[in-house]
This record gives sequence, C-alpha cells and structure tokens, in this order.
Amino acid sequence: MLSPCRPQLRFISCSIILILLFQAGDTKRDLKSACSTCQQITENFNKGYDRTAKQNFGGGNTAWEERKLSKYETSEIRLMEILEDLCDSSSFECNRMVEEHEEQFETWWFKKKTKHPDLHEWFCIDTIKVCCPKGTFGPDCNGGSERPCHGNGVCDGDGTRGGNGKCSCDHAYKGEFCLDCVDGYFNQVRNDTFSLCTECDTSCKTCSGATNQDCDECKEGWEEDDQEACVDVNECAKEPSPCKEDQYCLNAEGSYSCNGCDEACTGCTGGGPDKCQACAEGYKDVEGTCTDIDECSQSEPACAKENQECVNNKGSFICICSSGYEEKDGECVQQSDEKESEALETTPEPHGEL
Ligand SMILES: *[C@@H]1O[C@H](CO)[C@@H](O)[C@H](O)[C@H]1NC(C)=O
Repeated sequence: MLSPCRPQLRFISCSIILILLFQAGDTKRDLKSACSTCQQITENFNKGYDRTAKQNFGGGNTAWEERKLSKYETSEIRLMEILEDLCDSSSFECNRMVEEHEEQFETWWFKKKTKHPDLHEWFCIDTIKVCCPKGTFGPDCNGGSERPCHGNGVCDGDGTRGGNGKCSCDHAYKGEFCLDCVDGYFNQVRNDTFSLCTECDTSCKTCSGATNQDCDECKEGWEEDDQEACVDVNECAKEPSPCKEDQYCLNAEGSYSCNGCDEACTGCTGGGPDKCQACAEGYKDVEGTCTDIDECSQSEPACAKENQECVNNKGSFICICSSGYEEKDGECVQQSDEKESEALETTPEPHGEL
C-alpha cells in the first residue's frame, strides 16, 4: 500500500540531521513561508502578464501595429513592467526573493517560457527549489499522493520544502492517514484508500450506523432499551428527584433541567402558582391556585397598635404609622412640630430672580 504523506524512516532521520544542521526551530516554518512567498510572486507574475497584454493592445490592426505588438509581447520592456509589480513594497521576503533571482526571470522569459509555460513549476519547484509538487513535502519532495491524507486532512508542508508530512485531519477524522472516525462518527464508506465518516444518532457515543439501534455505546443521558436501542433517560422520574425541594424537574433529550417553583408554592410539579404541592406561608389554595392572603382585610386587625396602618404584600404584610405619625420606641407618635419646621428650613427657599 502506498502510504500517502507518510514520512519514511530514512526521511525522519534525514530531517533530524537537517534540523541539527540549521539549529533553528523556525527552519521548517521558514521553508513553508519561502514557498508561499514564491507562490505569491508567480501568481503576481501571471497577473502582470495578463495586465500588460491588455494594456498594450490598442485594437488597431495595421501591419505596423501588429509588428510592434508582437515585438512587445516578448520584450524586455514588458518583462520589466511585470517584475516591477511582483511585490508589495512592504514585503521584505518577496522583494529579497525577486532581487536574488532576477536573472532567473530573464532566463525563463527569453529561453524557457515556451518549453516550461508553468512559471511556478519551473521557478519555485525546479529552479530555486523552495516548493514541491502538490502532494509532496520536505527537502526532497517526499510523499507523492494525489490525495494527501486521503482527502480528509492537510499534510504538513504539502507543496513546500518544509513540513514533516504528518496529517492534520479534518473534523470527524483521525488516525495517521485520516481514515478513522472520531467518537460520534462511523465509517459509512471505507476501503484502503477512501473513508467517509458520517455522524452517529445523537443518542450514541460511538456507533456503527446511523440510527439509535446502531450505537455501540449510549451517550450520557441515554440508555439501552430492551430492543438495544439508545433512548432518553427520564431523569425526572427517578427517586429521589434530582432537583431541590423548591424546584421542579423538566426532562429533555439526553438531559434535564431544574427550575424554581413559583413563590406561592412550597414544592411544585411545574411552573406557576397552580402547580404547587402545598401553598407557601401567606398564601392559600383558591380553586387549585395558591393565592396571596390579604392579611389587612381580615376581621381581626393585623396591625393592632394605635395610629397604625396595614399594608398587604405578596405572602405577607407590614404595619406602618399613619400619615402625620412616626415610629418611636415601637409606638406611633405624632410627628413633632420641631421636626416639621426643621424640615421646612432645610427646604431650599426659591430665590426670586426678576
Ligand atoms: C474505494 O472507495 C471509493 C469510493 O467508493 C472508490 O472510488 C475506490 O475505487 C475504492 N477503491 C478500492 C481500492 O476499492
């Protein structure tokens, strides 16, 4: 079996020696980035080639114009125009590479273009050797697969002189060759060179097929029924209930949640004051719904002290002093005149501005 994108032992020891030689952790990344710089340069070259073709075509068709045009097509002037625009002025790597290899562009332009029309291949791969053909990697362009990692991942260094050829598998795939499926997926199609991983039923942790009967193991929150299918566990039916006393339980597919009871309840079977197991203090059952007791309108006065008023609230009530009275030592006494005049004095007097 041809192992795509797999480093051979010989190559591993070889690259270890290379790494030792360079003694630099960045070497591999530099090799990859050199190729992408070169790739960018050749792409820009091709763009420049197209641009200069249009730019100098006047639309005339006199013999003189045609002769002039065909001369320009292969001229040094055109080459220079293309070379000028290969790099952003800010891209140091790009400008360095173009400068260093300017002669190579001339060689290709005047001598190799016809026989080797693919500039990337001639320049980046075969001549300055910073890239490799697709599906190969590393200093000697090892590997050699049309579908690196079987089309289910990215081969480290693919197409460059760097990298180690290890696969980084796409989501759902794993293994050295990206042929295996991660948990929650199964091999729908699989042979030595091809693998398609498809998602399991939501109830399965692992599976061999698409339905809940194909689970190898149920996911947490699901359990096997008597037909060996994974079905939802009703956590809310369990004794004791997984929720607290002042909560009710809601079952969901694969899980459950606990939600707070209404404030009118002591224990409940659902949300709202009509789902109480018992009414909370200060509430009474009115036709199945726990309803606030208005303590202030009972026949027995709730606030018994003199000059006190009763104010009802949810589940309880409070006693306050009537208007004109204030609380002093637990009694409601008449507000003193002193206080009243003090209060007046502290109110800012409006200044007449006429
Ligand atoms: C593997 O499966 C794929 C997809 O079904 C198919 O195209 C290919 O020919 C198969 N290869 C082998 C060796 O059976």
